[in-house]
Amino acid sequence: MQVIHTIAALRARLGTERSVAFVPTMGNLHEGHLNLVRQAREHGSCVVASIFVNPLQFGPSEDFDKYPRTLEADCAKLQGLADAVFAPSINEMYPTQQTVFIEPPPIANELCGASRPGHFRGMATVVLKLLNIVQPQIALFGQKDYQQLHIIRQLAAQLDLPVRIVGGETVRAADGLALSSRNQYLNESERSEAVFLYRTLQGIRQAILQGEHDFEQLQKRAVEVLAARGWLVDYVAVRNQSDLQPAGPVKSDLAQRELVILAAARLGNTRLLDNVEVCLVD
Ligand code: PAF
Repeated sequence: MQVIHTIAALRARLGTERSVAFVPTMGNLHEGHLNLVRQAREHGSCVVASIFVNPLQFGPSEDFDKYPRTLEADCAKLQGLADAVFAPSINEMYPTQQTVFIEPPPIANELCGASRPGHFRGMATVVLKLLNIVQPQIALFGQKDYQQLHIIRQLAAQLDLPVRIVGGETVRAADGLALSSRNQYLNESERSEAVFLYRTLQGIRQAILQGEHDFEQLQKRAVEVLAARGWLVDYVAVRNQSDLQPAGPVKSDLAQRELVILAAARLGNTRLLDNVEVCLVD
């Protein structure tokens, strides 16, 4: 496995490859990332992972500076799974001030976008840059970042990018907590509470499956329960899987029966995200 730091060297390495599968990451790799890399192997003869903490997608008061940077350990984990790791410097990715940005679709202003203005614009911009640099046939992203995956699918479809976007299932700890690089910010008591976000989403899923279809009420109740346990809730939302719009009455059409329950909430200083799909198709 080669670790490559420049665009020129990466292009030289990939020049003759016909089938490249790509997993973009911000590093501090966990099983969720490694699963995507393993999945990538099924799709391409050459597997590339990138490790780049992208400043454009962090707000001024967010955790860009303290985001864990663990390149050496990450490369050790990728050994035998990836053929190349692209780990550029900030200067390599942004040699001049970035003044051209991707304007993401309006959904980028809702859900996570409501409390992280500019996040998806910065994310979409770096993802397009990375796709242009690597030029893979397939790119894989975790489904834990459901809204991100949705926006990347729109980006690829609406800009006619010659790449297939594939989502990878969320990998969970034994108690159900979705793996995330940010879980390591949690102290011991926060870590044991953290799984309650997933349990809350599972509870809503169960309620929907049992016929409770007043989504507003389900959302409101979940926010209240989380808040009472000390969570600072950004949102709990029942949305359509297809467009992430608020879910309408369940019986109206088939697409609206494929729902996703999404949530983001803060425990102490750590913002956690999770989602659970629910299909009401018979
Ligand atoms: O999901 C992430 O790790 C990042 O948002 C991504 C897609 C690598 C872009 O920086």
